[in-house]
Amino acid sequence: MNKMQIKTLEEYREKYAQSVSDPEGFWEDIANEFQWMKKWDKVLEWNFTQPDIKWYQGAKLNITENMLDRHLEARGNKPALIWEPNDPGQQFVSYTYRELYEQVCVFSNALKKQGVEKGDRVCIYMPMVPELAIAVMACARIGAIHSVVFAGFSATSLADRINDAQAKLVITADGLNRGSKQIPLKRVVDEALGNTLCVEKVIVFDCLGWQPHMKEGRDISWSDAIAGQEKKCPPEPMDAEDPLFILYTSGSTGKPKGVVHTCGGYMVYTAYSFQNVYQYEENDVFWCTADIGWITGHSYIVYGPLLSGATTVMFEGIPTYPDAGRFWQVIDKYGVNQFLTAPTAIRSLMAFGDDHVLSYSLDSLKVIGTVGEPINEEAWKWYHTHVGKERCPVVDNWWQTETGGIMISGIGNISPQKPTFAGYPLPGIQPVLLNQEGIEIEGANEEGYLCVKFPWPSILRTTYGDHERCRVTYFSHYDGYYFTGDGAKRDEDGMYRIIGRVDDVINISGHRFGTAEIENAINTNKLVIESAVVGYPHPVKGQSIYAFVVCDREIPSESQDFARGEIIESVVAEIGKIAIPEKIQFVSGLPKTRSGKIMRRILRKIAEGDMKSLGDTSTLLDPFVVDEIVENAL
Ligand code: PRX
Repeated sequence: MNKMQIKTLEEYREKYAQSVSDPEGFWEDIANEFQWMKKWDKVLEWNFTQPDIKWYQGAKLNITENMLDRHLEARGNKPALIWEPNDPGQQFVSYTYRELYEQVCVFSNALKKQGVEKGDRVCIYMPMVPELAIAVMACARIGAIHSVVFAGFSATSLADRINDAQAKLVITADGLNRGSKQIPLKRVVDEALGNTLCVEKVIVFDCLGWQPHMKEGRDISWSDAIAGQEKKCPPEPMDAEDPLFILYTSGSTGKPKGVVHTCGGYMVYTAYSFQNVYQYEENDVFWCTADIGWITGHSYIVYGPLLSGATTVMFEGIPTYPDAGRFWQVIDKYGVNQFLTAPTAIRSLMAFGDDHVLSYSLDSLKVIGTVGEPINEEAWKWYHTHVGKERCPVVDNWWQTETGGIMISGIGNISPQKPTFAGYPLPGIQPVLLNQEGIEIEGANEEGYLCVKFPWPSILRTTYGDHERCRVTYFSHYDGYYFTGDGAKRDEDGMYRIIGRVDDVINISGHRFGTAEIENAINTNKLVIESAVVGYPHPVKGQSIYAFVVCDREIPSESQDFARGEIIESVVAEIGKIAIPEKIQFVSGLPKTRSGKIMRRILRKIAEGDMKSLGDTSTLLDPFVVDEIVENAL
């Protein structure tokens, strides 16, 4: 598949120019590198008004045929997936392409036996075990639409996602390992299913040997489900524009929305971006430390690498267990060539000092990547020096759940590196910076709203069950542009630096939460009348949550910790531990304009400890409330 690869900066420039002057020709050449059951009638048809975007119309394919069947002849005995368990003392598991193909077929047949058909939604709430990747691919093989929910979400969040997608079947496990802890999953599913009517069956993988309660007629163990199933299952012919999966993500308003990706375009773009950004070569071992519950895990643990015939590493554990050298130990253990992690992980490991990382050779590494949030210069340099040994390029991958694949990034050792700059757009990606009025900024070193003016194959097609929400959120801010929600800057060489979200989205350890979503969770607490949350800089997590809470009574200082605990419990119940506010300040009122709008700008400054730049507060409904908040700030 190396016809897809750019090998020099000059080639990048040529391909980029071609992708702009002749996008259809460009993406047709790339698509020709895959196996299609029937080729397309038309490469692209689109408008960003409705929006209506169709790639490779009329084509038929199955993405798993491209990930598995296609590789059997040349790569049947090559490791496809290596699983590193949480406990370093436990034996790792490796699947060759043939073994993975067989396991996916077996589980595809098991799903069919449970009544799953093409177009049905299947919710996957699983630990980071190989069966999670197998379940994802089995859905894709039979044309069922998978909706993976990160296993840190609460029963309420899980139920919301199951209901929104009207999932027919749930795949889960008894529980999961996370460092020295074990966390229940089946119990959470049982609770969630108390608030859903659509789920007919639950398949339960045995991860911890807990033997959880099984509901008669609904629940079946993974081993019973696969018993006697054949190792062959024909791949379902899918239209290029048939949905492949739904993945829920947070925005600035309302509940998380189900971003929908489709089969053809997502396949082409994840493989293309993987092979170029990481300069993948045959027999390289690629490791992305994300969880498959997020888009990074979908695109760069499962789809991109396996479409490319690569060996992908999947890790069950956490970076600090049993010690802060775990990542580096695993890299040496498997001879990992390309490594992708998040700035938050880098910062947390930096805090343990250099000894851990210096204890390992890391000689196998060729390219190291970061993703999910802006990386600060200090973390970039530490990563480049101690992990990349100043030998490996650091590729900073900017993209989003909605974009399906990496959009702006360094390209292996081909493109120049500049700490804190993501880099150039990949071929086929046409970013622009817009000013307040929606006019494109042409000059260098100015900040603007990051938008994209032309479709690429893995752009989201809709938000599940609510196309209007997709239009309003992404295509209505600026006519004719996809709006990312990020602010960015471009230097004189055309490299982009991502500044961060310009909407009410907080990025905690690379995970997105809407302020409204967290406020709704806090407001479910019986003590609370209203609340406002803002993000503030955090040395490890990137951002953290600061909540300003108005209660129905004054909370005396000796009871405040107890009340905080109660509010945290509400957030854990509604969303999960990942969204716990770091700081909760009880206030008698919130700064509001006369029209009732909360002035988050002021709260953000207070949370940052920047009391000098609060600006003019005289127009507020009650300016004195600000003085009180400042005085008691945490
Ligand atoms: O604000 C940007 C930030 O994460 C957002 C997308 O989050 P999500 O859909 O969860 O996907 C994360 C993994 C792709 C973006 O709008 N973001 C992501 N990558 C970067 C980034 N910010 C700066 N630099 C990055 N490399």
